[in-house]
Amino acid sequence: MAEILPQDIALDAASRLLLAGEPVAIPTETVYGLAADATSGEAVARIYEAKGRPRFNPLIVHVADVAMAERFAEFSTLARRLAGMFWPGPLTMVLPHRAGSGIHPLVRAGLDTIAVRCPEGFGRDVVGRIGRPLAAPSANVSGRVTATTAQAVNAALGDRIRLVVDGGPTRVGLESTIVKVTDEGLVLLRPGGVAAEDIEAAAGMPLQRDAKDVQAPGMLASHYAPRARIRLNVTDVKPSEALLAFGPDRASGAEKAAEMRNLSPSGDLRQAAANLFSYLSALDAANAETIAVEPVPRHGLGEAINDRLARAAAPRETGRQEI
Ligand code: TXA
Ligand code: MG
Repeated sequence: MAEILPQDIALDAASRLLLAGEPVAIPTETVYGLAADATSGEAVARIYEAKGRPRFNPLIVHVADVAMAERFAEFSTLARRLAGMFWPGPLTMVLPHRAGSGIHPLVRAGLDTIAVRCPEGFGRDVVGRIGRPLAAPSANVSGRVTATTAQAVNAALGDRIRLVVDGGPTRVGLESTIVKVTDEGLVLLRPGGVAAEDIEAAAGMPLQRDAKDVQAPGMLASHYAPRARIRLNVTDVKPSEALLAFGPDRASGAEKAAEMRNLSPSGDLRQAAANLFSYLSALDAANAETIAVEPVPRHGLGEAINDRLARAAAPRETGRQEI
């Protein structure tokens, strides 16, 4: 089982583990989060590993204040007003991602938007202490009920992580409200800890909730689809194809590839997960018609990697895909 430390004495231990790239379960005012350094791909991959998530959903980036959030996202006047009203607190805003933010691509799962929130309490304190943003999904095992006490977190994840910070039962008890802020207005993506009516009153405009605009959590339309065709489980590379390789052994014809990236030369799935989105877009930018992908094992993080690759390879008549 993980060590459980009361929050008033946990700041040093949690900071040390987070800076070393380890995930730590932390209390927020909504639910417990499984936090990791959002600037490190391997640290973020460990979140997925611990949660056993079979696919890469984009994660919320937790910040200490608006100034920090503005390093990662483009804030409109409306977004600034909402942050001023509701932060710190249970409001997450989905905003355009700021290029060169330093947030690892795995956090956004390839999207060109980013979800940011400033939590109350320990989560905010630890971000302030380490001076880095934290990616943190709810601290439950994928598909199981969300944890609102340290004991529930420990029961679910205790054998997979080293530290659970105990802040007592969370104040809100359900996740943050997620609102997408665009030039056209506000879209409610997930109801949560801030009432939609309160956001509407602060914004002076209604929230859009019509089905075609609302993307259910975990079922988001992806704006990221490679331009190139994707050919999976390739054992023979054709000349002029770009190659996304995995492991120490190469498919035949690999030397003729127009461009190559190896997700993990040693065959480490955590490293492969961390590299997946940036390597796919690097190969896409090389302008090959097809990206050939070597087989990636399906165990552990390999399940989520294969899920994302299959979605990237799927026909996309609508121009949108689930991720
Ligand atoms: O209260 C909360 O929000 C908690 C605490 C720990 O902060 N976190 C949480 O995270 O609920 P998670 O990963 O369980 O849910 C985050 C949701 C997911 O449904 C994800 O699809 C959505 O946020 N999301 C993240 N980035 C997004 C983006 N760029 N666009 C749209 N939705 C996004
Ligand atoms: Mg969740």
